[in-house]
Amino acid sequence: MPAIQVNMIQHAAALAEIARIVGPAGVLADADAAPLLRDERGLYRGAAALVVRPSTVEQVAAVVRVCHDARLGVVPQGGNTGYCGGATPFDGERQVLLSLSRLNRVREVDDVGFTMTAEAGVVLANAQSAAREHGLLLPLSMGSEGSAQIGGNLSTNAGGLAVLRYGTMRELVLGLEVVLPNGEVLSALKGLRKDNTGYDLKAMFLGAEGTLGVITAAVLKLFPEPRSRQTAWLAVASLDAACTLLGRARRESGDQVVSAEYVSRRSLDLVLKHVAGAREPLEQPATHYLLLELASADDDAGLRAKLERVLAGGLASGEILDGTIADSLAQRSALWMLRERVPEAEKRDGGSVKHDVSVRIGRIAEFVARAEPALAAVAPHRLSIYGHIGDGNLHFNVLPPAGQGIDEFRAEPGEALSTCVHDLAAELGGSFSAEHGVGILKVHELERYQLPTAVALMRAMKRALDPHGIMNPGKMLGR
Ligand code: MLT
Ligand code: ZN
Repeated sequence: MPAIQVNMIQHAAALAEIARIVGPAGVLADADAAPLLRDERGLYRGAAALVVRPSTVEQVAAVVRVCHDARLGVVPQGGNTGYCGGATPFDGERQVLLSLSRLNRVREVDDVGFTMTAEAGVVLANAQSAAREHGLLLPLSMGSEGSAQIGGNLSTNAGGLAVLRYGTMRELVLGLEVVLPNGEVLSALKGLRKDNTGYDLKAMFLGAEGTLGVITAAVLKLFPEPRSRQTAWLAVASLDAACTLLGRARRESGDQVVSAEYVSRRSLDLVLKHVAGAREPLEQPATHYLLLELASADDDAGLRAKLERVLAGGLASGEILDGTIADSLAQRSALWMLRERVPEAEKRDGGSVKHDVSVRIGRIAEFVARAEPALAAVAPHRLSIYGHIGDGNLHFNVLPPAGQGIDEFRAEPGEALSTCVHDLAAELGGSFSAEHGVGILKVHELERYQLPTAVALMRAMKRALDPHGIMNPGKMLGR
């Protein structure tokens, strides 16, 4: 029998075995599987030989073992909210889509040690609520938290809106449980704050986008829940002024700044145009805005006075032109909405070519000052610039000129514009992907911009852990 036919028979038997392992409730038929085969942004339409949702770690391990033995690809998927196609399978014969969504138990909240042990399929918002029930905070926070799952957050090293204070997901992890590419389970869930007994193995899987194994659970750090918050929406003189003001706020508030989010006028205009209920926040329009939030676990921390002092200093030095402080939860939500819903507004406007670059905070203004004319020289476009300036991370998004559709724009001149943005980030010592990862979308960028020695080391790790290349094939490192 020809080798190819033998393989197909083996694959068919393996797929049948996988279906048996997860049982009827664990196999998704066409209509239910379809949404999992499309990515969040609608950039990709994928295909898989089988879409399964195991309900236990043992089932995940057994499925991966069968895939390993039959050399079938395994594409892990959480809430499917990623931006780079990292959770989309692309082979209708030889890849299995493994959804973690039924592994959705919070196994433990330790309110003495301030940790939570959560399974990969727990929706981020549910994990946050579980912590809150104990008066604790799981600080990871982002627009997609109602759908994004812990496993995806870990695998993409998610960032979001409070990284400045608490770090990215990588910094919130004390332990991991991982199904390795051969189906073995690495259960490292002791949750110890100190454990100097060899390499930091968990670090390999965080941000690995499922290319080295399937994360099934994690021990996460929790913090005291903030009891007081102060939020200001500020018109600032420039991006440089925003960064200087952030330094001032950190120093003068006793480092109580939890978020420092930049919104350009053009991004705000998109929100005002497309999001119901959005209102102009200040009397006079400005070019640059900063959303600044202080928070403390102490309900008597005097945050209002601290914020007012920071703002007085910022006004006196010319960093701040105008501003408002939220006086109620409703006002706070109204201000946050102007930042959080920029991505949605871009989408409603027809979509954008997204960029997620980072540079050192001190170089953000230089980045924008150089990027704007460089892009203008390439092709007509509109810009929407916003992001986490406290992390040096800008979403420098490019929209087609009014009247042009995103699909035709994305290929040309979109790619040339992206190269321009990414080249400049690299020239300024930055990153082409600060928080959205690599997936399938930015494989070429990884090859082009990452240090050759780092890529070689990553490939060596991939070969060592996954010699048959079954884990999330083609993602991050390419073929
Ligand atoms: C954000 O910060 O809002 C997201 O990372 C960017 C986006 O959704 O495009
Ligand atoms: Zn972001």
